[in-house]
Order: sequence, then C-alpha cells, then structure tokens
Amino acid sequence: MNNNSKPASYPQVGVASTCRSYEEYCAMFNLEDFDWTKGPVLDVAGGASSFTSQLHARGVKAIAADPFYKGPTEDVIAAAHKEIEVSSAKLAANPGVYDWSYYGTPELHRQGRERSLALFSEDFRSADADTRYDSASLPHLPFNNDTFGLVVSSHFLFLYADAFGEQFHADSLAEMMRVLKPGGELRIYPLVSLRWEECPYIPRLLHELKGVAKVEYLSTGLPFMPVPSSLLRLVKQA
Ligand SMILES: C[S@@+](CC[C@H](N)C(=O)[O-])C[C@H]1O[C@@H](n2cnc3c(N)ncnc32)[C@H](O)[C@@H]1O
Repeated sequence: MNNNSKPASYPQVGVASTCRSYEEYCAMFNLEDFDWTKGPVLDVAGGASSFTSQLHARGVKAIAADPFYKGPTEDVIAAAHKEIEVSSAKLAANPGVYDWSYYGTPELHRQGRERSLALFSEDFRSADADTRYDSASLPHLPFNNDTFGLVVSSHFLFLYADAFGEQFHADSLAEMMRVLKPGGELRIYPLVSLRWEECPYIPRLLHELKGVAKVEYLSTGLPFMPVPSSLLRLVKQA
C-alpha cells in the first residue's frame, strides 16, 4: 500500500489467460439460481476457464470465445499452466492486499485453479472441442443476432481498460448485445481496472445503450480484489 492506502496495481504485461472455475463463475456472476433453459450461453474472453466444459457436462449448450484458443491444443494448455505459476507467485508476493474470504488461502486458490484447468484441458482436447471453443476476438463475434440467453465476460473488459480504451469497450458491448436474444442478459465482472479504479467511462457506455438494455448493478459472491466491484447486468430489451 502507498501513503493513501491505495493498493499497488496488479503487475501485468499483456492480457493473462486465467482459468477460473465453473464454481467461481457461478459465485462471481450470481448464477446459482439462473434459469439455464433461457438459451445457449456464451463466455467471452473465456480463457482456460472450466465454465463452458461444466455447462456442457450439465447438458447446457455453451460456447467460449477467446483468441487464446488459436494454435496447437497442447500449447494453449501449457500456456494456461504457466499462467497459474506466474499469477500464484504474484499473489504470494503480496497476499495482504487480497480478500481471501472465498478461497481461504493462496494454496487453496492455486489448487482450485489447477482443478479448473484439468477440466478445461480434458474438454479442450476432446474431438468436438471446436464446437465449444472459438478463437473469436472482441469486438467481433462470429455469431448470429439474437442467439444467446446469457453472455458473460470475466476479468477482461474494464479490467484491461488502460490497454483497450473506450471505443473498444463501446463496440464490444454493442456486439455482445447483438448476439443476445431479447430478454437475454449480459453479465460482466469486474468493473475496475488493474489499477483498482472503477473504469471512468462506464456511465457513458451505458447511456449509449439506453433503450437497448436495462441496466442493473448486482453484488458479486466472489470478493477477492483489493477494492470492491459491482457486477454489471444488462438485460436486452425486446
Ligand atoms: C484474465 S483472462 C480471463 C479468463 C477467464 N474469463 C477467467 O475469468 O479466468 C482474460 C482473457 O481475455 C482474452 N482476450 C484478450 N483479448 C481479447 C479479445 N479482443 N476478445 C476476447 N478475449 C480477449 C485473453 O486471451 C484471456 O484469455
């Protein structure tokens, strides 16, 4: 912490490809009571998360989109393993700034990520993986209008605001709304950057969506970051 008690930024060069679990996603996005019959699910910037694989295992049609999926399967999986090493070392170097109430300890956090990556890896190696893992990059998604009942995006939008900027975020939000069915919803978490500051142009972006989406801020069930962040829920209007 500095003299103003503001935690130091998370040390990151480029975009990390992390592997949060299905359980972390459900807690983070408040999905425990979600009606999965609302339509297919899209995880944008899914990384090596087990969310898509575990929805598929539960009989829910789900797709993850991320440029990370380009390239040989084993290289993608190896990169995700490496990211667990790198991020665990960063957390261990400064554990006092994080809220461990969900994970318990840094070691349990790491073990959870390893379990999640094992589930992702098994699914990513399967013969039909290309029906669930698409190497699409925001702000363009290769899906038809009005396709998904739920779109989620964890730890990419707003977190990397300094690198991607306002127009990228405006275009990305519009694109994710496009692929949602009317009545479908987009959930994004967190709304703070790696400098732990709320992204300043969120109100302008949401203003642009007036008439397109109903906006709600919900609380997350996955506290961890040094500063609190709401979860953004946008429901596509009919
Ligand atoms: C911090 S990871 C988050 C992974 C996963 N959602 C999670 O919560 O563990 C951020 C992801 O954003 C992906 N990414 C980078 N640029 C992107 C883009 N233009 N469109 C979609 N995803 C992108 C990266 O490849 C990386 O996997």
